[in-house]
Amino acid sequence: MSTAKKEYKRVTTKSLVEMKRNNRKIAMLTAYDYTMAKIIDNAGIDIILVGDSASNVMAGHETTLPITLDQMIYHASSVIRAIERCLVVVDLPFGSYQGNSRNALDSAIRIMKESGAHSIKMEGGEEIAESIKRILSAGIPVMGHLGLTPQSIYKFGSYTVRAKKDTEAEKLKKDALLLEDLGCFAVVLEKVPAKLAEEVAKSLTIPVIGIGAGNVDGQVLVTHDMLGMTHEFSPRFLRRYLDLYNEMDGAFKKYITDVKSGDFPNDDEQY
Ligand code: KIV
Repeated sequence: MSTAKKEYKRVTTKSLVEMKRNNRKIAMLTAYDYTMAKIIDNAGIDIILVGDSASNVMAGHETTLPITLDQMIYHASSVIRAIERCLVVVDLPFGSYQGNSRNALDSAIRIMKESGAHSIKMEGGEEIAESIKRILSAGIPVMGHLGLTPQSIYKFGSYTVRAKKDTEAEKLKKDALLLEDLGCFAVVLEKVPAKLAEEVAKSLTIPVIGIGAGNVDGQVLVTHDMLGMTHEFSPRFLRRYLDLYNEMDGAFKKYITDVKSGDFPNDDEQY
């Protein structure tokens, strides 16, 4: 059982900031459906992210760009029905907040109202500050996301490590401080050098959740990756806790053989 499961009956944005203050690491995983969310929440996770990585993992798109607000709401409401304890963060999908702050607020309100989620996540810093401010002023908690921001993949052209150059690192540090000043409750840092992430985490009072960003205040992984269900994706930061691709492959093959041979169902497996 995680320390947080013992300490917090329900995880809130406030408990996450407190966890950082008390040097307790924060564990976050993605989920997009009821069954997976139920298992993860029961295991004692602090945060479930209904990530727009659903676009890749659930729908098979190459990028996160195609997923729609309606689809995110569908995934988020499935997750919300499953959880009892963790905080649920939902990605605002590409195109649902970049237009203007009114459009951003409308999207955030739809997520909160139609899915029952607890908070939203947005990619970017200074360029989306107006929208973050407006969403926060409506009482909706916001998690930031800096470094590798997959919704801007066509601007950057690759999924390589970000902020290795001084100018990009300086902008990232400024953006992280801005997100804290605006009132975000946490920031995800994706694929940036560990030293830079550590410096950012030290400069903030809100938690920094890393993915490929060293050992900061917390970690997030895509659940399907850490379970080894996806096996074509092997970045250095990914620790695989199971080899489910091969386990499932073996189970499916055995089932097919059993059905074809007439072994399944046996006498005990019928009425
Ligand atoms: O969509 C997602 O899964 C994410 C994580 C990789 C942080 O944004």
